[in-house]
Amino acid sequence: MHDTQEKNRQRQDLSKYDEIWVFGYGSLIYKVDFPYIERRYANVYGWERRFWMLSHDHRGTPENPGIVLTLTPSNNTECFGIAYKITEAEFEHLDHREKNGYLREEIDIHLVDGDTVRGLVYIGDTNSSVYLGPTPVEQLAVHIFNSRGPSGENREYVFNMGTALRKYAIIDEHVFAIEQFLQNLSNA
Ligand code: SIN
Repeated sequence: MHDTQEKNRQRQDLSKYDEIWVFGYGSLIYKVDFPYIERRYANVYGWERRFWMLSHDHRGTPENPGIVLTLTPSNNTECFGIAYKITEAEFEHLDHREKNGYLREEIDIHLVDGDTVRGLVYIGDTNSSVYLGPTPVEQLAVHIFNSRGPSGENREYVFNMGTALRKYAIIDEHVFAIEQFLQNLSNA
């Protein structure tokens, strides 16, 4: 129902490129289940991470969806993550992995030690029913605490994310606030 694979295949013709950069800001930072040619610390301007997407296939189920990250436009902010240079062939796997409401968007990716490259990023389709939108962090945390799916406990996504962000010295108040609520719920 929310499957974006076909839409994504039609959005860009990637066959003309040998190598393509993709910007990862969520699980693509810490779960790298694809081969890459190069990996660089990077950022994108005008976006921020938010737990505003439902997950029916990874961290939740169709009956009880979990909650995962998307990017939302935001003035004067930059979002740090990891950029991967990959071959066109990897998009079949990535499109499948990100199929629950994510659309491939073209974006300028700033590799922090130098160049700006044009690449792709998976962003939640705000017109999709999978898009949750602005929700108080405490409410997000309680929902995440009670969700799980084929990829595991929803809270693991948040804890993995927090660990990965600290590893790369990235500060993200939204992610850290939800992580803190979840830690409090786990210790209660
Ligand atoms: C990403 O990591 O870049 C996309 C969202 C996700 O899979 O968590």
